[in-house]
Amino acid sequence: MRARHRLVQMAPVSLLSLAACLAAAPDLAAAAPATAAAGSHGTGGAPNATLLSTPTEAAISAADPVPIPLDKVLSFAAQQLKATRKAFPPGDAFPGRATLPDGSWPEVDRTDWVAGFYPGWLWQMHALTNKSEWSKAATKLLPGLEETQYDTGSHDIGFIMLSSYGPAYRRVAPTSTLGKRYRSILLAQRYSPRLGMFRSWGKDLKRDEFQVVIDNMMNLELMWVASRLPGGKTSWRDMARSHARATAAHFFRPDSSTYHKLEFSLKSRKVTFRGTRQGYSNSSTWDAAWAIYGFTQAYEATNKTEFRRVAGKAAELFLKRLTPDWVPFYWDFDAPANMPYKDTSAGAVAADGLLRLSRWAKGEAQGRYRSAALRMLSALATGYLSSSAPAPQPASVLRNGTGAVFRGDWGTGTSYGDYYFLEALAVGRSMKLL
Ligand SMILES: *[C@@H]1O[C@H](CO)[C@@H](O)[C@H](O)[C@H]1NC(C)=O
Ligand SMILES: *[C@@H]1O[C@H](CO)[C@@H](O)[C@H](O)[C@H]1NC(C)=O
Ligand SMILES: *[C@@H]1O[C@H](CO)[C@@H](O)[C@H](O)[C@H]1NC(C)=O
Ligand SMILES: *[C@@H]1O[C@H](CO)[C@@H](O)[C@H](O)[C@H]1NC(C)=O
Ligand SMILES: *[C@@H]1O[C@H](CO)[C@@H](O)[C@H](O)[C@H]1NC(C)=O
Repeated sequence: MRARHRLVQMAPVSLLSLAACLAAAPDLAAAAPATAAAGSHGTGGAPNATLLSTPTEAAISAADPVPIPLDKVLSFAAQQLKATRKAFPPGDAFPGRATLPDGSWPEVDRTDWVAGFYPGWLWQMHALTNKSEWSKAATKLLPGLEETQYDTGSHDIGFIMLSSYGPAYRRVAPTSTLGKRYRSILLAQRYSPRLGMFRSWGKDLKRDEFQVVIDNMMNLELMWVASRLPGGKTSWRDMARSHARATAAHFFRPDSSTYHKLEFSLKSRKVTFRGTRQGYSNSSTWDAAWAIYGFTQAYEATNKTEFRRVAGKAAELFLKRLTPDWVPFYWDFDAPANMPYKDTSAGAVAADGLLRLSRWAKGEAQGRYRSAALRMLSALATGYLSSSAPAPQPASVLRNGTGAVFRGDWGTGTSYGDYYFLEALAVGRSMKLL
Protein backbone atom coordinates (compact mmCIF):
# COMPACT_ATOMS: atom_id res chain seq x y z
CA MET A 1 0.00 0.00 0.00
CA ARG A 2 1.59 2.62 0.74
CA ALA A 3 0.59 5.36 -0.60
CA ARG A 4 1.72 6.39 -3.54
CA HIS A 5 4.62 7.69 -4.35
CA ARG A 6 4.93 10.76 -5.67
CA LEU A 7 8.03 11.68 -6.80
CA VAL A 8 9.06 14.21 -8.89
CA GLN A 9 7.14 13.99 -11.91
CA MET A 10 6.12 10.54 -11.72
CA ALA A 11 3.36 9.37 -9.78
CA PRO A 12 1.27 6.55 -9.60
CA VAL A 13 -2.07 6.56 -8.55
CA SER A 14 -4.71 5.40 -10.43
CA LEU A 15 -6.85 3.58 -12.29
CA LEU A 16 -8.76 3.92 -9.38
CA SER A 17 -10.05 6.99 -10.54
CA LEU A 18 -11.28 5.60 -13.62
CA ALA A 19 -12.50 2.67 -11.88
CA ALA A 20 -13.85 4.93 -9.40
CA CYS A 21 -15.72 6.71 -11.93
CA LEU A 22 -17.06 3.57 -13.19
CA ALA A 23 -17.89 2.50 -9.77
CA ALA A 24 -19.38 5.75 -8.87
CA ALA A 25 -21.72 5.91 -11.75
CA PRO A 26 -24.98 4.70 -10.38
CA ASP A 27 -25.45 2.39 -13.29
CA LEU A 28 -22.04 0.97 -13.07
CA ALA A 29 -21.51 -0.45 -9.71
CA ALA A 30 -18.77 -0.73 -7.32
CA ALA A 31 -18.05 -1.95 -3.98
CA ALA A 32 -17.73 -0.87 -0.49
CA PRO A 33 -16.03 -1.15 2.76
CA ALA A 34 -16.16 -0.27 6.27
CA THR A 35 -14.66 -1.02 9.47
CA ALA A 36 -14.77 -1.65 12.95
CA ALA A 37 -11.79 -0.37 14.37
CA ALA A 38 -13.29 2.72 15.39
CA GLY A 39 -11.62 4.03 18.27
CA SER A 40 -8.24 2.75 17.65
CA HIS A 41 -6.76 5.47 15.82
CA GLY A 42 -3.45 6.54 15.82
CA THR A 43 -1.93 9.57 16.88
CA GLY A 44 1.58 8.67 16.60
CA GLY A 45 4.00 7.70 19.21
CA ALA A 46 5.96 4.54 19.58
CA PRO A 47 4.57 1.30 18.27
CA ASN A 48 3.46 -1.30 20.74
CA ALA A 49 3.06 -5.00 20.59
CA THR A 50 -0.70 -4.85 20.16
CA LEU A 51 -0.39 -2.64 17.15
CA LEU A 52 2.23 -4.82 15.64
CA SER A 53 0.17 -7.97 15.61
CA THR A 54 -2.24 -8.54 12.73
CA PRO A 55 -6.00 -9.01 12.67
CA THR A 56 -6.94 -12.62 13.14
CA GLU A 57 -8.92 -14.53 10.58
CA ALA A 58 -11.78 -14.55 13.05
CA ALA A 59 -11.67 -10.78 13.35
CA ILE A 60 -11.67 -10.32 9.62
CA SER A 61 -14.54 -12.63 8.91
CA ALA A 62 -16.66 -11.74 11.91
CA ALA A 63 -20.08 -10.86 10.64
CA ASP A 64 -20.62 -8.01 13.09
CA PRO A 65 -21.98 -4.82 11.63
CA VAL A 66 -19.42 -2.23 10.81
CA PRO A 67 -20.60 1.30 11.39
CA ILE A 68 -19.53 3.90 8.87
CA PRO A 69 -20.90 7.35 9.69
CA LEU A 70 -21.46 8.28 6.08
CA ASP A 71 -23.52 11.40 6.72
CA LYS A 72 -20.91 12.78 9.05
CA VAL A 73 -18.12 12.05 6.60
CA LEU A 74 -20.01 13.65 3.74
CA SER A 75 -20.85 16.80 5.62
CA PHE A 76 -17.25 17.17 6.76
CA ALA A 77 -15.98 16.51 3.23
CA ALA A 78 -18.40 19.11 1.87
CA GLN A 79 -17.09 21.65 4.37
CA GLN A 80 -13.45 20.95 3.48
CA LEU A 81 -14.14 21.06 -0.23
CA LYS A 82 -16.00 24.34 0.06
CA ALA A 83 -12.90 25.90 1.56
CA THR A 84 -10.68 24.28 -1.07
CA ARG A 85 -12.87 25.66 -3.85
CA LYS A 86 -12.39 29.12 -2.43
CA ALA A 87 -8.63 28.66 -2.28
CA PHE A 88 -8.43 27.05 -5.74
CA PRO A 89 -10.85 28.68 -8.18
CA PRO A 90 -10.86 27.18 -11.68
CA GLY A 91 -7.53 27.98 -13.31
CA ASP A 92 -3.95 26.77 -13.50
CA ALA A 93 -3.36 25.79 -9.88
CA PHE A 94 -4.39 22.51 -8.27
CA PRO A 95 -4.00 21.18 -4.73
CA GLY A 96 -0.75 19.21 -4.43
CA ARG A 97 0.20 15.91 -2.86
CA ALA A 98 0.46 16.55 0.86
CA THR A 99 -0.90 19.29 3.13
CA LEU A 100 1.65 21.80 4.44
CA PRO A 101 2.52 22.32 8.12
CA ASP A 102 -0.04 25.15 8.31
CA GLY A 103 -2.71 22.74 7.04
CA SER A 104 -3.16 24.24 3.60
CA TRP A 105 -2.71 22.52 0.25
CA PRO A 106 0.38 23.47 -1.73
CA GLU A 107 -0.17 24.42 -5.37
CA VAL A 108 0.84 22.31 -8.31
CA ASP A 109 0.28 22.81 -12.03
CA ARG A 110 -1.61 20.57 -14.42
CA THR A 111 1.39 18.31 -15.03
CA ASP A 112 1.66 16.99 -11.48
CA TRP A 113 0.46 13.44 -11.05
CA VAL A 114 -2.14 14.54 -8.48
CA ALA A 115 -3.63 17.41 -10.51
CA GLY A 116 -6.72 15.40 -11.51
CA PHE A 117 -7.77 14.53 -8.00
CA TYR A 118 -9.32 17.91 -7.26
CA PRO A 119 -12.01 17.52 -9.94
CA GLY A 120 -11.97 13.85 -8.93
CA TRP A 121 -13.03 14.70 -5.35
CA LEU A 122 -15.93 16.70 -6.70
CA TRP A 123 -17.02 13.92 -9.05
CA GLN A 124 -16.97 11.47 -6.17
CA MET A 125 -19.06 13.84 -4.07
CA HIS A 126 -21.50 13.97 -6.93
CA ALA A 127 -21.58 10.18 -7.04
CA LEU A 128 -22.25 10.08 -3.30
CA THR A 129 -24.83 12.84 -3.05
CA ASN A 130 -26.26 13.27 -6.56
CA LYS A 131 -26.09 17.03 -6.06
CA SER A 132 -25.43 18.88 -9.27
CA GLU A 133 -23.39 21.57 -7.52
CA TRP A 134 -20.54 19.03 -7.40
CA SER A 135 -20.63 17.97 -11.03
CA LYS A 136 -20.94 21.61 -12.12
CA ALA A 137 -17.93 22.60 -10.06
CA ALA A 138 -15.93 19.62 -11.35
CA THR A 139 -16.72 20.47 -14.94
CA LYS A 140 -15.44 24.02 -14.43
CA LEU A 141 -12.03 22.68 -13.43
CA LEU A 142 -11.53 20.58 -16.55
CA PRO A 143 -10.32 23.30 -18.95
CA GLY A 144 -7.31 23.76 -16.66
CA LEU A 145 -6.28 20.18 -17.38
CA GLU A 146 -7.10 20.09 -21.05
CA GLU A 147 -3.54 20.32 -22.32
CA THR A 148 -2.45 17.46 -20.13
CA GLN A 149 -3.90 15.05 -22.64
CA TYR A 150 -0.83 15.68 -24.79
CA ASP A 151 1.70 15.03 -22.03
CA THR A 152 3.37 11.76 -22.68
CA GLY A 153 6.37 12.33 -20.42
CA SER A 154 5.35 9.69 -17.88
CA HIS A 155 2.61 7.20 -17.10
CA ASP A 156 1.04 9.75 -14.77
CA ILE A 157 -1.14 11.07 -17.53
CA GLY A 158 -3.34 8.14 -16.54
CA PHE A 159 -3.82 9.32 -12.98
CA ILE A 160 -4.53 12.84 -14.12
CA MET A 161 -6.98 12.10 -16.89
CA LEU A 162 -8.70 9.11 -15.32
CA SER A 163 -9.68 11.06 -12.22
CA SER A 164 -10.76 14.26 -13.96
CA TYR A 165 -11.99 13.59 -17.49
CA GLY A 166 -12.75 9.97 -16.74
CA PRO A 167 -15.80 10.68 -14.61
CA ALA A 168 -16.86 13.48 -16.94
CA TYR A 169 -16.83 11.06 -19.79
CA ARG A 170 -18.52 8.28 -17.89
CA ARG A 171 -21.14 10.24 -16.11
CA VAL A 172 -21.88 13.30 -18.09
CA ALA A 173 -20.99 13.41 -21.72
CA PRO A 174 -19.89 10.20 -23.36
CA THR A 175 -20.50 11.40 -26.86
CA SER A 176 -19.38 14.96 -26.54
CA THR A 177 -16.03 16.58 -27.05
CA LEU A 178 -15.24 15.57 -23.49
CA GLY A 179 -15.33 11.99 -24.64
CA LYS A 180 -13.10 12.76 -27.58
CA ARG A 181 -10.52 14.41 -25.40
CA TYR A 182 -10.53 11.55 -23.04
CA ARG A 183 -10.07 9.11 -25.84
CA SER A 184 -7.12 11.02 -27.17
CA ILE A 185 -5.10 10.28 -24.13
CA LEU A 186 -2.88 7.44 -24.94
CA LEU A 187 0.06 5.97 -23.20
CA ALA A 188 0.77 3.94 -26.29
CA GLN A 189 3.90 5.87 -27.22
CA ARG A 190 5.52 4.80 -23.99
CA TYR A 191 5.04 1.14 -24.79
CA SER A 192 8.03 -0.96 -25.78
CA PRO A 193 7.13 -4.01 -27.88
CA ARG A 194 10.58 -5.35 -27.07
CA LEU A 195 9.80 -5.54 -23.35
CA GLY A 196 6.04 -5.72 -23.57
CA MET A 197 5.72 -2.96 -21.00
CA PHE A 198 5.12 0.75 -20.67
CA ARG A 199 8.06 2.88 -19.57
CA SER A 200 6.75 4.48 -16.38
CA TRP A 201 9.31 7.20 -15.94
CA GLY A 202 11.66 9.13 -18.14
CA LYS A 203 11.04 11.31 -21.17
CA ASP A 204 13.78 9.74 -23.30
CA LEU A 205 12.05 6.81 -24.92
CA LYS A 206 15.27 5.46 -26.44
CA ARG A 207 17.22 5.26 -23.22
CA ASP A 208 18.47 1.75 -22.44
CA GLU A 209 17.54 2.02 -18.75
CA PHE A 210 13.82 1.28 -18.70
CA GLN A 211 12.08 2.09 -15.41
CA VAL A 212 8.77 0.56 -14.44
CA VAL A 213 6.91 1.12 -11.17
CA ILE A 214 4.06 -0.96 -9.89
CA ASP A 215 1.87 2.12 -9.77
CA ASN A 216 1.79 1.96 -13.53
CA MET A 217 -0.84 -0.78 -13.13
CA MET A 218 -3.25 1.93 -12.06
CA ASN A 219 -2.99 3.67 -15.42
CA LEU A 220 -3.57 0.76 -17.77
CA GLU A 221 -7.25 1.55 -17.58
CA LEU A 222 -6.64 4.38 -19.98
CA MET A 223 -5.64 1.88 -22.64
CA TRP A 224 -8.49 -0.48 -21.93
CA VAL A 225 -11.09 2.26 -22.09
CA ALA A 226 -9.55 3.79 -25.19
CA SER A 227 -9.54 0.46 -27.00
CA ARG A 228 -13.28 0.10 -26.44
CA LEU A 229 -14.20 3.57 -27.69
CA PRO A 230 -15.13 4.23 -31.30
CA GLY A 231 -11.90 4.29 -33.26
CA GLY A 232 -10.08 2.40 -30.52
CA LYS A 233 -7.56 -0.28 -31.43
CA THR A 234 -7.35 -3.76 -30.02
CA SER A 235 -3.58 -3.36 -29.93
CA TRP A 236 -4.03 -0.86 -27.08
CA ARG A 237 -5.87 -3.49 -25.08
CA ASP A 238 -3.15 -6.00 -25.83
CA MET A 239 -0.42 -3.61 -24.68
CA ALA A 240 -2.15 -3.17 -21.34
CA ARG A 241 -2.58 -6.91 -20.97
CA SER A 242 1.06 -7.53 -21.76
CA HIS A 243 2.14 -4.94 -19.21
CA ALA A 244 -0.04 -6.51 -16.53
CA ARG A 245 1.35 -9.97 -17.29
CA ALA A 246 4.92 -8.74 -17.16
CA THR A 247 4.23 -6.96 -13.87
CA ALA A 248 2.80 -10.17 -12.43
CA ALA A 249 5.85 -12.08 -13.61
CA HIS A 250 8.59 -9.73 -12.42
CA PHE A 251 7.38 -7.63 -9.49
CA PHE A 252 6.32 -10.27 -6.98
CA ARG A 253 8.61 -11.94 -4.49
CA PRO A 254 8.00 -15.53 -3.44
CA ASP A 255 6.06 -14.35 -0.36
CA SER A 256 3.68 -12.30 -2.58
CA SER A 257 5.11 -8.97 -1.53
CA THR A 258 6.09 -6.62 -4.34
CA TYR A 259 8.97 -4.46 -5.43
CA HIS A 260 8.06 -0.87 -6.07
CA LYS A 261 10.41 -0.26 -8.98
CA LEU A 262 12.21 -2.39 -11.54
CA GLU A 263 14.71 -1.36 -14.14
CA PHE A 264 15.21 -3.32 -17.33
CA SER A 265 17.83 -2.99 -20.02
CA LEU A 266 16.17 -2.41 -23.34
CA LYS A 267 19.12 -4.04 -25.07
CA SER A 268 19.46 -7.19 -23.02
CA ARG A 269 15.81 -7.36 -21.94
CA LYS A 270 17.05 -8.32 -18.50
CA VAL A 271 16.05 -6.91 -15.14
CA THR A 272 18.93 -4.75 -13.93
CA PHE A 273 17.46 -3.44 -10.66
CA ARG A 274 14.75 -4.48 -8.21
CA GLY A 275 13.95 -2.15 -5.37
CA THR A 276 12.15 0.97 -4.33
CA ARG A 277 11.96 4.67 -4.84
CA GLN A 278 9.98 5.81 -1.83
CA GLY A 279 9.79 2.78 0.35
CA TYR A 280 11.97 2.08 3.35
CA SER A 281 14.41 -0.23 1.59
CA ASN A 282 14.97 -2.08 -1.63
CA SER A 283 13.70 -5.26 -0.04
CA SER A 284 10.74 -3.80 1.86
CA THR A 285 7.06 -3.92 1.03
CA TRP A 286 5.54 -0.63 0.24
CA ASP A 287 3.14 -1.01 -2.66
CA ALA A 288 0.67 -3.71 -1.94
CA ALA A 289 -2.31 -1.36 -2.28
CA TRP A 290 -1.52 -0.47 -5.87
CA ALA A 291 -1.19 -4.14 -6.66
CA ILE A 292 -4.59 -5.03 -5.19
CA TYR A 293 -6.34 -2.24 -6.99
CA GLY A 294 -4.40 -2.45 -10.25
CA PHE A 295 -4.82 -6.17 -10.76
CA THR A 296 -8.49 -6.02 -9.80
CA GLN A 297 -8.95 -3.49 -12.56
CA ALA A 298 -7.01 -5.66 -14.94
CA TYR A 299 -9.42 -8.45 -14.17
CA GLU A 300 -12.44 -6.21 -14.62
CA ALA A 301 -11.13 -5.05 -17.98
CA THR A 302 -10.22 -8.48 -19.32
CA ASN A 303 -12.07 -11.20 -17.41
CA LYS A 304 -8.76 -13.02 -17.18
CA THR A 305 -8.63 -15.25 -14.12
CA GLU A 306 -4.85 -14.86 -13.96
CA PHE A 307 -5.28 -11.21 -12.95
CA ARG A 308 -7.89 -11.95 -10.31
CA ARG A 309 -5.47 -14.45 -8.80
CA VAL A 310 -2.67 -11.92 -8.67
CA ALA A 311 -4.98 -9.36 -7.03
CA GLY A 312 -5.90 -12.03 -4.48
CA LYS A 313 -2.25 -12.74 -3.78
CA ALA A 314 -1.62 -9.06 -3.10
CA ALA A 315 -4.77 -8.87 -0.96
CA GLU A 316 -3.70 -11.81 1.22
CA LEU A 317 -0.28 -10.32 1.79
CA PHE A 318 -1.83 -7.00 2.70
CA LEU A 319 -4.28 -8.48 5.18
CA LYS A 320 -1.59 -10.61 6.70
CA ARG A 321 0.47 -7.54 7.46
CA LEU A 322 -2.28 -5.09 8.39
CA THR A 323 -2.47 -4.10 12.05
CA PRO A 324 -5.59 -4.86 14.13
CA ASP A 325 -6.80 -1.28 14.02
CA TRP A 326 -7.24 -1.71 10.24
CA VAL A 327 -5.13 1.29 9.29
CA PRO A 328 -1.73 0.64 7.74
CA PHE A 329 0.98 1.07 10.25
CA TYR A 330 3.65 1.67 9.24
CA TRP A 331 3.91 3.54 5.99
CA ASP A 332 6.08 0.66 4.77
CA PHE A 333 5.29 -2.79 6.10
CA ASP A 334 8.96 -3.24 6.87
CA ALA A 335 9.71 0.17 8.32
CA PRO A 336 11.61 0.20 11.59
CA ALA A 337 10.12 1.10 14.95
CA ASN A 338 11.59 4.58 14.95
CA MET A 339 9.44 5.49 11.92
CA PRO A 340 5.97 4.59 13.19
CA TYR A 341 3.92 6.59 10.73
CA LYS A 342 0.41 5.63 9.80
CA ASP A 343 -0.60 5.77 6.17
CA THR A 344 -4.28 6.44 5.64
CA SER A 345 -3.74 6.88 1.91
CA ALA A 346 -2.58 3.30 1.55
CA GLY A 347 -5.55 2.27 3.66
CA ALA A 348 -7.95 4.07 1.36
CA VAL A 349 -6.47 2.60 -1.83
CA ALA A 350 -6.36 -0.90 -0.38
CA ALA A 351 -9.92 -0.72 0.97
CA ASP A 352 -11.12 0.50 -2.40
CA GLY A 353 -9.31 -2.31 -4.21
CA LEU A 354 -10.45 -4.98 -1.74
CA LEU A 355 -14.03 -3.91 -1.96
CA ARG A 356 -13.96 -4.15 -5.73
CA LEU A 357 -12.12 -7.44 -5.61
CA SER A 358 -14.73 -8.84 -3.23
CA ARG A 359 -17.20 -8.77 -6.11
CA TRP A 360 -15.14 -11.26 -8.08
CA ALA A 361 -13.38 -13.31 -5.41
CA LYS A 362 -14.41 -16.93 -4.97
CA GLY A 363 -15.62 -18.77 -1.89
CA GLU A 364 -14.92 -17.45 1.57
CA ALA A 365 -12.53 -14.80 0.25
CA GLN A 366 -15.49 -12.82 -1.03
CA GLY A 367 -16.96 -12.11 2.39
CA ARG A 368 -13.57 -11.78 4.00
CA TYR A 369 -12.39 -9.10 1.55
CA ARG A 370 -15.64 -7.20 1.83
CA SER A 371 -15.60 -7.32 5.58
CA ALA A 372 -11.95 -6.24 5.77
CA ALA A 373 -12.55 -3.39 3.33
CA LEU A 374 -15.56 -2.12 5.30
CA ARG A 375 -13.59 -2.29 8.52
CA MET A 376 -10.75 -0.34 6.98
CA LEU A 377 -13.13 2.34 5.74
CA SER A 378 -14.83 2.48 9.08
CA ALA A 379 -11.50 2.91 10.85
CA LEU A 380 -10.65 5.83 8.56
CA ALA A 381 -14.09 7.41 8.90
CA THR A 382 -14.22 7.14 12.68
CA GLY A 383 -10.60 7.77 13.63
CA TYR A 384 -8.86 9.70 10.89
CA LEU A 385 -10.95 12.59 9.67
CA SER A 386 -8.94 15.81 9.70
CA SER A 387 -11.53 17.24 12.08
CA SER A 388 -9.81 15.16 14.77
CA ALA A 389 -6.29 16.36 13.92
CA PRO A 390 -4.41 18.67 16.23
CA ALA A 391 -4.37 22.30 15.04
CA PRO A 392 -3.59 23.47 12.49
CA GLN A 393 -6.16 21.16 10.97
CA PRO A 394 -5.28 19.90 7.49
CA ALA A 395 -7.47 21.06 4.58
CA SER A 396 -7.90 17.41 3.60
CA VAL A 397 -10.69 14.99 4.51
CA LEU A 398 -8.30 12.41 5.99
CA ARG A 399 -5.29 13.06 8.18
CA ASN A 400 -2.19 10.97 8.79
CA GLY A 401 -1.26 10.09 5.26
CA THR A 402 2.32 9.29 4.35
CA GLY A 403 3.89 9.99 0.98
CA ALA A 404 7.64 10.05 0.63
CA VAL A 405 9.12 9.80 4.11
CA PHE A 406 12.56 10.70 2.82
CA ARG A 407 11.12 14.09 1.93
CA GLY A 408 9.38 14.48 5.28
CA ASP A 409 5.93 13.74 3.89
CA TRP A 410 4.16 11.97 6.72
CA GLY A 411 1.39 12.92 9.16
CA THR A 412 -0.31 15.00 6.44
CA GLY A 413 -3.49 15.03 4.45
CA THR A 414 -2.96 13.59 0.95
CA SER A 415 -4.88 14.46 -2.20
CA TYR A 416 -4.78 10.87 -3.46
CA GLY A 417 -5.82 9.44 -0.08
CA ASP A 418 -8.91 11.66 -0.10
CA TYR A 419 -9.72 10.67 -3.64
CA TYR A 420 -9.60 6.93 -3.08
CA PHE A 421 -11.39 7.24 0.24
CA LEU A 422 -14.32 9.02 -1.39
CA GLU A 423 -14.24 6.62 -4.30
CA ALA A 424 -14.34 3.62 -1.99
CA LEU A 425 -17.38 5.09 -0.21
CA ALA A 426 -19.05 5.58 -3.58
CA VAL A 427 -18.24 2.01 -4.51
CA GLY A 428 -19.69 0.79 -1.22
CA ARG A 429 -22.77 2.84 -1.89
CA SER A 430 -23.18 1.36 -5.35
CA MET A 431 -22.83 -2.13 -3.85
CA LYS A 432 -25.58 -1.16 -1.42
CA LEU A 433 -23.31 -1.77 1.53
CA LEU A 434 -23.52 1.81 2.80
C1 LIG B 1 -0.57 11.68 12.80
O1 LIG B 1 -0.42 13.01 12.36
C2 LIG B 1 -0.03 13.90 13.37
C3 LIG B 1 0.01 15.30 12.75
O2 LIG B 1 -1.31 15.68 12.36
C4 LIG B 1 1.33 13.51 13.90
O3 LIG B 1 1.67 14.38 14.96
C5 LIG B 1 1.27 12.08 14.40
O4 LIG B 1 2.56 11.68 14.79
C6 LIG B 1 0.79 11.18 13.30
N1 LIG B 1 0.66 9.82 13.81
C7 LIG B 1 1.07 8.76 13.11
C8 LIG B 1 0.92 7.44 13.81
O5 LIG B 1 1.52 8.81 12.00
C1 LIG C 1 -1.03 -0.44 22.55
O1 LIG C 1 -2.04 -0.05 21.63
C2 LIG C 1 -3.35 -0.50 21.98
C3 LIG C 1 -4.28 -0.15 20.82
O2 LIG C 1 -4.24 1.21 20.53
C4 LIG C 1 -3.75 0.14 23.31
O3 LIG C 1 -5.04 -0.32 23.67
C5 LIG C 1 -2.73 -0.26 24.38
O4 LIG C 1 -3.05 0.40 25.57
C6 LIG C 1 -1.32 0.12 23.94
N1 LIG C 1 -0.37 -0.41 24.90
C7 LIG C 1 0.64 0.31 25.36
C8 LIG C 1 1.56 -0.40 26.31
O5 LIG C 1 0.82 1.47 25.02
C1 LIG D 1 -30.03 12.36 -9.38
O1 LIG D 1 -30.53 13.63 -9.68
C2 LIG D 1 -31.18 13.74 -10.93
C3 LIG D 1 -31.62 15.18 -11.15
O2 LIG D 1 -30.57 16.03 -10.88
C4 LIG D 1 -32.37 12.81 -10.98
O3 LIG D 1 -32.97 12.83 -12.27
C5 LIG D 1 -31.91 11.39 -10.67
O4 LIG D 1 -33.04 10.53 -10.59
C6 LIG D 1 -31.15 11.33 -9.35
N1 LIG D 1 -30.59 10.01 -9.19
C7 LIG D 1 -30.68 9.37 -8.05
C8 LIG D 1 -30.03 8.00 -8.01
O5 LIG D 1 -31.22 9.82 -7.06
C1 LIG E 1 18.42 0.70 -3.47
O1 LIG E 1 19.54 0.28 -4.23
C2 LIG E 1 20.16 1.36 -4.93
C3 LIG E 1 21.24 0.76 -5.83
O2 LIG E 1 22.05 -0.11 -5.13
C4 LIG E 1 20.73 2.35 -3.93
O3 LIG E 1 21.33 3.43 -4.60
C5 LIG E 1 19.58 2.86 -3.08
O4 LIG E 1 20.06 3.74 -2.08
C6 LIG E 1 18.82 1.71 -2.42
N1 LIG E 1 17.62 2.27 -1.79
C7 LIG E 1 17.37 2.16 -0.49
C8 LIG E 1 16.13 2.82 -0.01
O5 LIG E 1 18.11 1.56 0.26
C1 LIG F 1 -16.64 -10.22 -18.67
O1 LIG F 1 -17.66 -11.16 -18.37
C2 LIG F 1 -18.91 -10.57 -18.09
C3 LIG F 1 -19.87 -11.64 -17.64
O2 LIG F 1 -19.80 -12.73 -18.50
C4 LIG F 1 -19.39 -9.79 -19.32
O3 LIG F 1 -20.62 -9.17 -19.02
C5 LIG F 1 -18.36 -8.75 -19.69
O4 LIG F 1 -18.75 -8.07 -20.86
C6 LIG F 1 -16.99 -9.38 -19.87
N1 LIG F 1 -16.02 -8.33 -20.06
C7 LIG F 1 -15.07 -8.40 -20.97
C8 LIG F 1 -14.10 -7.26 -21.05
O5 LIG F 1 -14.95 -9.36 -21.73
